Amino acid sequence: MKRNKLQKFNELKTFDNVLEYTDQDFKKNIKDLLSSTDYICLELGCGNGDFSIELAKNSPSKLFIGIDIQGERLWHGAKNATFNKVPNVYFIRMFIDSIDEFVPKHSIDEIWITFPDPYPKKSKAQKRLTSNRFLEKYKKIMKDKGNINFKTDDNELFKFTLDELKNNGWKILSSIEDVHTAQHNISELNICTKFENKWINLGKKIFFLRFTS
Ligand SMILES: C[S@@+](CC[C@H](N)C(=O)[O-])C[C@H]1O[C@@H](n2cnc3c(N)ncnc32)[C@H](O)[C@@H]1O
Repeated sequence: MKRNKLQKFNELKTFDNVLEYTDQDFKKNIKDLLSSTDYICLELGCGNGDFSIELAKNSPSKLFIGIDIQGERLWHGAKNATFNKVPNVYFIRMFIDSIDEFVPKHSIDEIWITFPDPYPKKSKAQKRLTSNRFLEKYKKIMKDKGNINFKTDDNELFKFTLDELKNNGWKILSSIEDVHTAQHNISELNICTKFENKWINLGKKIFFLRFTS
């Protein structure tokens, strides 16, 4: 049966691997989830969760949490993880804007931000997930020396992010301007989702940054 948006939205509430900001005890539920393991990696703006699921399959002892506001996309991730029995991936529906209100301080080991919306208009720059407004929030929830990884097909967003990092004292650990031709030993960059393949097939280069505070 093909489900419509509303059905998916309602079904999302029944999955064991999903938390939503509308849940009672949302903050406590996040805290409990995070206390269940030592190594926690977030994917911010995870969409349908393909990347988080692949990360989770490759590292069964770590916990991966995909965060997005779009319930319909998260439904695909939660369904896929359940169907394929991937127990170490969860999904949270919330605005990333309020991440530092709900995720405990210094609790996160690593963050991935994959192909975020570029918001090309200057007036929307504050909505970019790599703007300093967001970077300051990530700093609060990251453990000391935790890495943030960022991947994009958008050259302007890549340059904007580099500037934000340099202007705000972040240390750049890796900067790659064409992931699929460059030499590197970052195994996660070998994961190629449908979304990334779409850009590659259009002849776009994929940019990558790894940075830490
Ligand atoms: C272009 S899609 C990329 C999805 C996924 N990372 C991928 O590579 O397939 C960007 C995603 O970020 C989510 N997003 C953007 N800004 C957000 C915010 N402030 N809070 C929560 N989700 C956000 C959107 O809902 C969308 O699903």
